[in-house]
Amino acid sequence: MSYTETEKETIAVPEKVSKRFFLETYGCQMNISDSEIVTALLQKEGYKSTLSPAEADVVLLNTCAIRENAEDKIRVRIKSLKAVKKRNPDLIIGVLGCMAERLKKKLLEEEHLVDIVVGPDAYRSLPELINGLEDGGKAVNVLLSREETYADINPVRLSGNGITAYISIMRGCDNMCSFCVVPFTRGRERSRDPETIMNEAKLLFEQGYREVTLLGQNVDSYKWFGGGPKKDFEKVTAENKNAEVVSFASLLEKVALIHPLLRVRFTTSNPQDMTNEVLHVIAKYPNICKYIHLPMQAGSSSMLERMNRGYDREKYLRRIEAIREIIPGCSISTDIIAGFCSETEEEHKETLSLMEKVKFDYAYIFTYSERPGTLAAKKYKDDIPEEIKLTRMQEILARQRRQSMDNNEADIGKVFEVLVESHSKRSKQQLVGRNSQYKSIVFTSEQHKPGDYVHVCITKCTSGTLLGEVLN
Ligand code: SAH
Ligand code: F3S
Repeated sequence: MSYTETEKETIAVPEKVSKRFFLETYGCQMNISDSEIVTALLQKEGYKSTLSPAEADVVLLNTCAIRENAEDKIRVRIKSLKAVKKRNPDLIIGVLGCMAERLKKKLLEEEHLVDIVVGPDAYRSLPELINGLEDGGKAVNVLLSREETYADINPVRLSGNGITAYISIMRGCDNMCSFCVVPFTRGRERSRDPETIMNEAKLLFEQGYREVTLLGQNVDSYKWFGGGPKKDFEKVTAENKNAEVVSFASLLEKVALIHPLLRVRFTTSNPQDMTNEVLHVIAKYPNICKYIHLPMQAGSSSMLERMNRGYDREKYLRRIEAIREIIPGCSISTDIIAGFCSETEEEHKETLSLMEKVKFDYAYIFTYSERPGTLAAKKYKDDIPEEIKLTRMQEILARQRRQSMDNNEADIGKVFEVLVESHSKRSKQQLVGRNSQYKSIVFTSEQHKPGDYVHVCITKCTSGTLLGEVLN
């Protein structure tokens, strides 16, 4: 059908006043990546984003349930929105993500402020739920899916630097670590079609991005073959003997081959599943970053057994040795939980001694917090007093700080290729970027800009940052 100019004018519909949404994200990179998907889904429906809840028609909180204090923080935030809702009674408040499934009833009944609750696999239904809300009504969709990967959605990048971006390659987790609520809040593990991952990475590169981080709770168990996710593996490979299997190692290689100037990172690796094949791919391509985040959680085999981690102290150490051997100069970071159920002083000391052996570059340290519904909540007592958990965490922190400082001091005099991410907040002449090892590097230059690769010689350091000079 075609129209003349005048016909077009006469049939033009008046422009719809678009709703504005404010979206706040809590928790891990996966949640940031989910918020980018939610933003894309809402913008597609004509919603406009705003940076102020006071200007919004819809306020959405993308939540995290990993530890109790994360949930507490979000509940305080929900209560604080009461004042905003008082000024604007039509305001719609929605809770998205990991708290949704677990707390849907509580959120809707106790916190009368919440109008919509949507789980991590149900974001596509969000626009419809918002539109369908009647005066004072409530809407919930917390169904978990075995297929949803949002593969066709082109996320709206929220990180803002235009240089680094996240790409979600899988969702959910099947590992069932006894302390962890993720398998319950985010559902079963499923891998995303590699073709769509590649297209997303290529598009980012064309738009000027220079680094992508492939995201999954357990990237080493990524698996795709001849047109289906992991759950159909046996069925499809039995029917089609030539089905191409894409493992994490082959996915990493495919993304690295997009362009040598596109850096590739990934997280999270799992000691139970990380193969030498993956390590060899990392070693082979200069643009795959020499950095592995390998959560150890604890240093004693008895604790790791109670945590249901699927490896013991020796196996963890063997994985570290393999990294050191196959990828010289690779930096390693970790996650550690202090004060898990019945942790003895000896077990805690084993955590410290494993740290001493590995010499991590960085560690994320948490005190254990019991999560309802998990294996640990059912099977073990959360019996370590809070003060002991905190003391142990402080000891681990102090040890790590010393180690990070030692490792950074050892970098003084070395030259690194730095991808510039932004100007420093302190001065326009100062640039901030990272080396392949994920260390943050600050240096002064007037010739360079975000997106450039610059060779920098390290001259000074703190435990968190390297400072250097541009090499001519
Ligand atoms: N997929 C990642 C971890 C996801 S959760 C992995 O393979 O380990 C991020 C980190 O939060 C975990 O590594 C763990 O150290 C911490 N964590 C998870 N549940 C916790 C709990 N109940 N209490 C304290 N820390 C927890
Ligand atoms: Fe949680 Fe273990 Fe998976 S920590 S996200 S169940 S690998």
